[in-house]
Amino acid sequence: MKIKIFSIAFLAFIFLNGITVKADEGMWLPMLIGKNYEQMKKQGFKLTPEDLYSVNKASIKDAIVSFGGFCTGEIVSKNGLIFTNHHCGYDAAASNSTAQNNILDSGFYAKSFTEEKPISGLFVRFLVRIEDVTPKVMAALAGVTDNQRASKIAEISKQIASGASAGTDSEAEVRDIYKANQFLLFVYNRFTDIRLVGIPPQSIGKFGGDTDNWEWPRHTGDFSIFRVYADANNKAAVYNVNNKPYTPKKYLPVSIKGVKNNDFSMVYGYPGRTDRYLTSYGVALATGKTNPTIVKLRDIRLKAWKEEMDKNVDTRLKLSSQYASIANYWKYFIGQTEQLKRLKIYEEKQTQEAKFTSTAKDSVYRNLMQNYKTTYAAYEPFAVHITYINEGLLATPWVRNASQLGGLFSSMSEKKDDAAYMAQVKENMSNVLDDYQQTYNEIADKKIFARILTAFYNDVSKSQHPKFITLITENYWKGSPEETFKNYADYLWANSKLIDPVKLRAFVSNPNMSELEKDPGYMYAKNLNPQDYVKNNLGSVSTDFITQKSRLDNLYLKAILETNKTALRYPDANSTMRISYGQVQNYSPKDGITYNVTTNIDGMVAKYKKGDQEFDLPQSLLDAYKKRDFREYGENGTLPVNFISNNDITGGNSGSPVINGNGELIGLAFDGNWEAMSGDIAFDKNYKRTISVDSRFVLWCIDVLGGAKNIINELDIRRDKIAVDKSKLIMKK
Ligand code: ARG
Repeated sequence: MKIKIFSIAFLAFIFLNGITVKADEGMWLPMLIGKNYEQMKKQGFKLTPEDLYSVNKASIKDAIVSFGGFCTGEIVSKNGLIFTNHHCGYDAAASNSTAQNNILDSGFYAKSFTEEKPISGLFVRFLVRIEDVTPKVMAALAGVTDNQRASKIAEISKQIASGASAGTDSEAEVRDIYKANQFLLFVYNRFTDIRLVGIPPQSIGKFGGDTDNWEWPRHTGDFSIFRVYADANNKAAVYNVNNKPYTPKKYLPVSIKGVKNNDFSMVYGYPGRTDRYLTSYGVALATGKTNPTIVKLRDIRLKAWKEEMDKNVDTRLKLSSQYASIANYWKYFIGQTEQLKRLKIYEEKQTQEAKFTSTAKDSVYRNLMQNYKTTYAAYEPFAVHITYINEGLLATPWVRNASQLGGLFSSMSEKKDDAAYMAQVKENMSNVLDDYQQTYNEIADKKIFARILTAFYNDVSKSQHPKFITLITENYWKGSPEETFKNYADYLWANSKLIDPVKLRAFVSNPNMSELEKDPGYMYAKNLNPQDYVKNNLGSVSTDFITQKSRLDNLYLKAILETNKTALRYPDANSTMRISYGQVQNYSPKDGITYNVTTNIDGMVAKYKKGDQEFDLPQSLLDAYKKRDFREYGENGTLPVNFISNNDITGGNSGSPVINGNGELIGLAFDGNWEAMSGDIAFDKNYKRTISVDSRFVLWCIDVLGGAKNIINELDIRRDKIAVDKSKLIMKK
């Protein structure tokens, strides 16, 4: 069928060149974007490469920020206003909400600077420059053995980075690309006084909930608004009421001219992680073991939280942010497994790897796939167990906290005269305790604890059960594993001082090692100190796997890079700044169906279910809809909500600007589509789409529903309708 022909052709292509240039695939490094320029121009890009990235003059890169390290944002006014996604600002809104003043549910727009809400802990980073430091790193690696390689890379990277940031107010880091075959230095400026300016009610910002998440057609107003503040000299500074809105080097104008199929579109931001060179062995491990385990363990947490969240508003507000983020990747892993199988990615990679082996000139490369096979075979029997550590055993935060207390207390008693150290410890502890208290729920956490241990007992091969599991079942047995672990949970909750946040706070404020040693919660948790757990129960399985796999990955990429030295290639995403370009584009999810590129408010209201947790809508939206009050944001009698484009993005790109050929903001990227959930491992041109909220819908919410003219007036809005211009041209002819 069509897909098959396509993918085989694609394979031959990929085999020769690695991941090479195609219209829409690719997360390109901004400083090398000149290489893509001719192709971008053909697709409708009107600016120059220097307009996108320049170290010497203001360029679009200066309007793009890493938002909190987990999302992307863009500067949209001369006063440092930031647009990002609703789900990126979710935690900021949730932690500023109470049952009485519930901005998560009702939305919030500051009508003046003084109403903006400082968000502690949040930061944005501006990229100053990127520099290729491969020769420096490679020189340091000469003669270094495989086992020392990773630590040597870390050492020299740190040295280069501190050299670059010394004596400046910037920070720097060296990141590897192409599996440690090349190295880049990134220099950033970090701002920490970030304030919440606006967010729609979550019924708009998260409309469709988990049901619509990762799916097209979509109708979600996934945006929120923040502002960067700086000191009197426009420099980064810690929060201070007297700080001023930051004056940026560059900000993006906002287009309300609209989008249509085949328009040029570009996404500029911070994609987190892709694994496009993962071998068939890695795909098999993901679909067979790791993904199903993650899904099962997240299901346990989500069910227990939901049961409590449905009981009252306070609990819902308290748990909703962690619920949303765990649910997001719960559905992601379901989708990734389904699509890897549907698109036969394992089989594709096998074919590709067989060809790699048969044409390899060097014996190292000829044996590479066999070595991958052996490496994965040694790891596979432990994969479920290893996935259980972070996703299960450590998923109740008290265990993670308590597991560290022994080490912490002893270094505190050693360094009790070191005032700086003690102050740092105090601050860290208070942050950890605040976070813990904010998300703790006794009923849910206890259920989760017992259910995860039960699942562990049943799913992890008995021969791998740690001694403490056996001890628990021997001492607390109650007829079944389920009742036994419930019984054990009851015992811990009744007797430990390390679980209830209030008791825990009291306990750590007066550290006592011998009390700690006697605490039953500590006796359990000390088994789970993350480093020791692996060593004690799994020996070197995990570290051996990581070392061997990194070495093989490094060689695999080396081979690919050697194949065609002039080919245009992009490295896997690694949370560094990238540009992806392509077009607004429709797609066919299956035979007989083509999805439009845009959705509109009629479709949104058609999904409306009064009072529903996922599909409710605020009265203000329904009223404006009834009057069809779309103002200049409407088009053809309706209001556009979301659109799709073939840009190559992944998690971390959330909130990224979607930019048209003139460098104007046409939307905010917020999601991917179900048919391409395998995209982080294999890009499929037929299916992979970026889902964005149309800038017109964003502005309509702020203006018409929020009445925040102050925000609208800050923006540089580009209004000339393309449709009107075009009809004039045709008439002249
Ligand atoms: N899937 C989106 C992403 O990872 C997040 C969407 C958030 N919305 C939600 N219903 N959980 O970027």
